[in-house]
Amino acid sequence: MQQNSMALRDAIRELRGSRIAEISALGMGDPKVIPLWYGEGDLPTPEFIGQAASDALRAGHTFYTYKAGLPELRQTLAEYQSRLFGRDIAAERVAVTSSGMTALMLVSQALIDPGDNLVIVAPVWPNIAAAVSILGGEPRLVSLDPLPNGGWRLDPERVFAACDARTRGIFVNSPSNPTGWVMGPEEIAALFEFARRRGLWLIADEVYARIVYGNRAAPSFLEQAEPEDRLIVVNSFSKNWAMTGWRLGWMTMPPDLLPTIEKLIEFNTSGSPTFLQHAGIVAVREGEPFIQNFVARCRAARDVAIDALSDCRRVHAARPEGAFYAFFRIDGVGDSLAFAKEVLHRTKVGLAPGSAFGPMGEGYLRLCFARDPAQIATAVERLKPLLD
Ligand SMILES: Cc1ncc(COP(=O)(O)O)c(C=O)c1O
Repeated sequence: MQQNSMALRDAIRELRGSRIAEISALGMGDPKVIPLWYGEGDLPTPEFIGQAASDALRAGHTFYTYKAGLPELRQTLAEYQSRLFGRDIAAERVAVTSSGMTALMLVSQALIDPGDNLVIVAPVWPNIAAAVSILGGEPRLVSLDPLPNGGWRLDPERVFAACDARTRGIFVNSPSNPTGWVMGPEEIAALFEFARRRGLWLIADEVYARIVYGNRAAPSFLEQAEPEDRLIVVNSFSKNWAMTGWRLGWMTMPPDLLPTIEKLIEFNTSGSPTFLQHAGIVAVREGEPFIQNFVARCRAARDVAIDALSDCRRVHAARPEGAFYAFFRIDGVGDSLAFAKEVLHRTKVGLAPGSAFGPMGEGYLRLCFARDPAQIATAVERLKPLLD
């Protein structure tokens, strides 16, 4: 076994497995564990979306289809984004992908040569950094500034200072997993100004754009973009419509990039499952009430979690403005992976270690609250003795 793994590419041998999975492997399948380690909720996909998939399957939508996605789904997504962001976004800029993760991999394949770097605003969900590493590139993490109350702020100058001749682009995920930080329009404008001047790509991961507390959507790069801008926005069906297991996403790009992405889709997945795409159309067209209810439920759970965590003397927990995570710092914790293991062992609550999201996340834990608020209340009650 060991000999075979030695015969792999360096970048692959050096790839570190997910630290979140290290925790979940210890508690998976234990019915007493409250699993708040992954980025998904407890609600199944709404019935009407499942029904649409099953109808499409029975109707025989089981053949290969367009690599960039069904024209009707691309049109539906273009109209959805145009409505949401007040800009005319053409279907020729949209490609359907087999998940947000696949979109991130496609972007990396399109941009990163060995030795290139991508500047990534962090703490960050680790998979974009892994995608860059797999291609032999350097993920260059730049930290948000931590605030005393547990929140975070972006200093665009730090991002600019990290860019050099081998930088291909800047990656920002807002609303952020894990911090819940939401980027403002001024920060978007500042990044645009710099990226345009330097000819860099902006890669915006907006999979949590609809999971915000107060507005209909988070500020988006698409609101300030011209179609030709070097901007790629990654999105997903996973979070908005409780479709994590479907592996369906999309990306929006300048029109002249689409043929390249189409080729890459051909050589990666050869397109997303046809009958699932039919259900995707229904999700986008009829899923608004679901999103509203889901966000309201997340908001209630967020408040339960943050109120209880803030009562713990060792905890610094800001109320996140977006996404569905509490990312909190605990005084005296220097090894968040070891601490998350201890928490799981002693309380049967499964959390993600902050170090999974970059070195600046060390000392933090991430709790996903996209669940029944009563269950979140039970979880934080169990956590209290360890955090106080
Ligand atoms: C920031 C971020 N981007 C992308 C994804 C990928 O979502 P999916 O691959 O399920 O579409 C996730 C999932 O957790 C995420 O948190």
